[in-house]
Amino acid sequence: MPTRVLFVCLGNICRSPAAEGVFRHLVEDTGLREAFVVDSAGTGAWHAGEPPDRRMQAAAAQRGLRLSSIARQVVPSDFEDFDWILAMDASNLQHLRRLAHPSHHHKIRKFRDFDPDAPGADVPDPYYGDADGFTTVLDIVTRTAQALLAHLRAAARPDRAHVTP
Ligand code: 4NP
Repeated sequence: MPTRVLFVCLGNICRSPAAEGVFRHLVEDTGLREAFVVDSAGTGAWHAGEPPDRRMQAAAAQRGLRLSSIARQVVPSDFEDFDWILAMDASNLQHLRRLAHPSHHHKIRKFRDFDPDAPGADVPDPYYGDADGFTTVLDIVTRTAQALLAHLRAAARPDRAHVTP
């Protein structure tokens, strides 16, 4: 059974598409494509149907990454369909916890709980800022996605299943 990972931000056009794209590339580069289902969504619906923000796409393209997601809003079935639901900031986390049945709360975590440099921090929202903000998002997302993948690979091994960050 693949491990199913959903990245969530507010609009699903900047931070969570970057996390999805970076994590997907990592998984593919590691030869683990079959082991993961990767997706992203937004708590808001304003940008549903849109590709990632042009500025996020440009920052990713500079690093050779193509972001192919189409924005969608979180739906109730996401809490059934995914094993890990990773919020980009505290507001997204709060929103997800309000939407989910308490029996699913254990699946919902802050993405940066896995960031070795700043565990539990927010991924800053770059939408109203300048181009530097998008580069910063990619730096954070790349570092954290690498640590997340290492964690999930360790957790998939039965002898390490108890390990948490
Ligand atoms: P995201 O960024 O949550 O990282 O996709 C935003 C995108 C759109 C808006 C806010 C944040 N907005 O207000 O439309």
